[in-house]
Amino acid sequence: MRGIVYDGESTRLVDGLELADPGPRQVVVAIGAAGLCHSDLSYMHGLYPVPHPAVCGHEAAGVVERVGEAVTNVKPGDHVVVTTLASCGVCEFCADGLPTLCRSTLANWSKPFTLDGEGIFNFAATSAFAERTLVRDVQCVAIPDDVPLTSAALIGCGVVTGMGAVFNRANVTRGQAAVVFGVGGVGLNVLQALRVRGADPIVAVDTAPAKEELAMRFGATHFLDGTRDDIVEAIGAIRPASDKAVRGAFNAGGMDWAFDCVAHPQVTWNALESLDWGGSVVIIGVAAQDAEFRGLYGRLTQVDRAVMGCRYGTISPHRDIPQIVDLYRKGLIDLDGLVSSTHAVDDWETAVAELESGAVARGVLTF
Ligand SMILES: NC(=O)c1ccc[n+]([C@@H]2O[C@H](COP(=O)([O-])OP(=O)(O)OC[C@H]3O[C@@H](n4cnc5c(N)ncnc54)[C@H](O)[C@@H]3O)[C@@H](O)[C@H]2O)c1
Ligand SMILES: [Zn+2]
Ligand SMILES: [Zn+2]
Repeated sequence: MRGIVYDGESTRLVDGLELADPGPRQVVVAIGAAGLCHSDLSYMHGLYPVPHPAVCGHEAAGVVERVGEAVTNVKPGDHVVVTTLASCGVCEFCADGLPTLCRSTLANWSKPFTLDGEGIFNFAATSAFAERTLVRDVQCVAIPDDVPLTSAALIGCGVVTGMGAVFNRANVTRGQAAVVFGVGGVGLNVLQALRVRGADPIVAVDTAPAKEELAMRFGATHFLDGTRDDIVEAIGAIRPASDKAVRGAFNAGGMDWAFDCVAHPQVTWNALESLDWGGSVVIIGVAAQDAEFRGLYGRLTQVDRAVMGCRYGTISPHRDIPQIVDLYRKGLIDLDGLVSSTHAVDDWETAVAELESGAVARGVLTF
C-alpha cells in the first residue's frame, strides 16, 4: 500500500508498505481522509525529536477494517475519528480524565509498518498518511456514518486542539475578550469555540491577508494584520481600560485571553502585552524544544496574569469528540467549511505548498 514517509532528510510517497496484524487491543483503520496540520510540516522539516523513517500524518478519519480479539468499542465497518492519544487508561491522569498528561501518550514509538523488509515507525502514534494504519482501540472514536470523512478527519487534531483550548484549558466564559494569533487550521477552531462560548470581542491576528475572510466567517469580530508594528496598541484599543485611556496602570485594558497558535517569540510577547489584568496567554503553537520566549515579570505578578501551554486541547477524546460531532450536527460549529481543498494522496505536495502559503484553512488528503 501507499504512504508518505519522512526518512530524516526528505519526504516521499512510497508504494509497497506493509502493515502488521492487529494485536488483541489494536485496530486496523482504512484511512478515508487525513488533514495536513502544521505539525506534519514541522516533523518533515526535522523540528521534532521523534524517530524516522516514519509514516507521516496524525489527523484522520476512516473506516474500521479489522479489530483484535479483545476490542469491544468498535467493529469492522464503523466510521471513526482517530485520536493521537494512546492513553493507558489506568494512571492517575487517565483516572482524572486528563489523558493528555498520561505518560504513555508521548514517546510511545513503534514500527507497525515495513517497507522492503525495513521497519518503519509510526508518527504521533497515528500515521494518517497511508491507506491503512494500526492504532490502539482507545484511539478510535466511533462517529455517525453521515459525517463526511473529509470533515471528520480534522477533528483528529486541528479541531480538538483549537476548540479544546477554549472549552477545557481556558474554560472561557460569556463576555470575556479574546485574541487569537495565527488563524490556520487550529486558530480558526479557537475562534469558533470562542463564538460558542459567547466571548466578545473575538480578535483574530494573522500575517496572511487571505485569513481575514475565513476568520470573520469562523467567529472573529475583528481582524488585524499581524505584520503591523502597532499590533499591541491596536488590540488594546478594541477594549480600552477606560473612557479616558486605552491602557491603564499595569497595562490594564485589552484581552482576558490570548491564544498563541504560532509560537514565535515576538508573537508570544505581543500576546502577553495584549492582556488585561487577570488575563492569560494559552500557548498552542509548537516551537523547537530549545526555543525561548521572553516577557516582563511586572506583567504577571501584580495583577494575576498567567502563561500556560495546551496540548491537544487538553481533551478527553471519548467525551469531547462526540460533543464536537454533536455541535456540528446541530449547526453550531462548521467543519465542512474548514476543508479548503482535497487532494488525492499522489498530489500531497500541492497540499504542502498550500499550507505553507498560509492561504488555506485545511488541505485534506484522500485515499
Ligand atoms: N499544542 C498542540 O497540541 C498542537 C496541535 C496541533 C498543532 N499545533 C501547532 O499549532 C500551530 C498552528 O498549527 P496550524 O495547523 O493551525 O498551522 P497553520 O499553518 O494552518 O496556521 C498558522 C497560521 O499562523 C499564521 N502566522 C504565521 N506567523 C504569524 C505571525 N507572526 N503572526 C500572526 N500569524 C502568523 C499563518 O499565516 C497561518 O495562518 C503550529 O505550530 C502547530 O505545530 C499544536
Ligand atoms: Zn494513563
Ligand atoms: Zn496536529
